[in-house]
Amino acid sequence: MRVLQVRNLRKTFRLHLRGGLELPVLKNVSLDVNAGECVALTGPSGQGKSTLMKCLHGSYGVDGGEVLLHRADGSVLDLAQAAPQQMLQLRRRELAYVSQFLRVVPRVPALDVVAERMLEADEAVARQRSEAGHAEALAAAREQVRELFRRLNLPPGLWELPPATFSGGEQQRVNIARGFIQGARLLLLDEPTASLDATNRRVVIELIEEAKARGTAVVGIFHDEEVRDAVATRCESVAAGANQGQ
Ligand SMILES: Nc1ncnc2c1ncn2[C@@H]1O[C@H](COP(=O)(O)OP(=O)(O)OP(=O)(O)O)[C@@H](O)[C@H]1O
Ligand SMILES: [Mg+2]
Repeated sequence: MRVLQVRNLRKTFRLHLRGGLELPVLKNVSLDVNAGECVALTGPSGQGKSTLMKCLHGSYGVDGGEVLLHRADGSVLDLAQAAPQQMLQLRRRELAYVSQFLRVVPRVPALDVVAERMLEADEAVARQRSEAGHAEALAAAREQVRELFRRLNLPPGLWELPPATFSGGEQQRVNIARGFIQGARLLLLDEPTASLDATNRRVVIELIEEAKARGTAVVGIFHDEEVRDAVATRCESVAAGANQGQ
């Protein structure tokens, strides 16, 4: 079952501080991803892998082409044309992105950074909840997050602290938990294991395998070849050639 179809995607950066210099990064990129597949984006540094990921997530606008998401209800939405409100809605439920660096609201404890993502996913249910119902839902969400934090070997002493002062690898595991908790339909992973030790890399490999088994479509960038070989069902080069310039 098709989840993502990228058609002739184009993205050019315009460097206003350099006299409007144009930097064409993505030239007619096409990519198909099915449910249960993990497609690894490959290509040399600076070729546009992270840029493609940000275009799929909607954090960068595109200059042309289509990013078609086949949704759970059977409809197809072009993310390249979606309104900001629609993108926010999608990110609550269907589209998850694990960036290399965690960006969070200061002062929110690690547990809630992830638990709140779970509650947002059920927005419609949330609207009907009473205050007591909300407290109960939050407690249940926190319990699931604890389980994921335990799997990711995040020290329990950190769970109630805001992640701002965590080490790179600790922040990355909070970020990973946030990406995996909502069971998204399309999961985007940009170097999810870059700051992790071997034990935690194996946990992330397991989490990716479980997501695939649930039917999630995964697009990932993995510099670590061992991780890539373990999880990728297919590699696609973002370098000029394979998919570009048609
Ligand atoms: N916001 C931006 N403004 C201007 N240029 C950008 C921007 N983001 C990326 N670029 C440029 O686009 C090109 C592709 O960058 P990108 O980060 O997508 O590469 P990458 O393939 O992910 O590389 P790496 O493997 O090193 O992470 C680079 O030349 C980069 O300088
Ligand atoms: Mg990159």
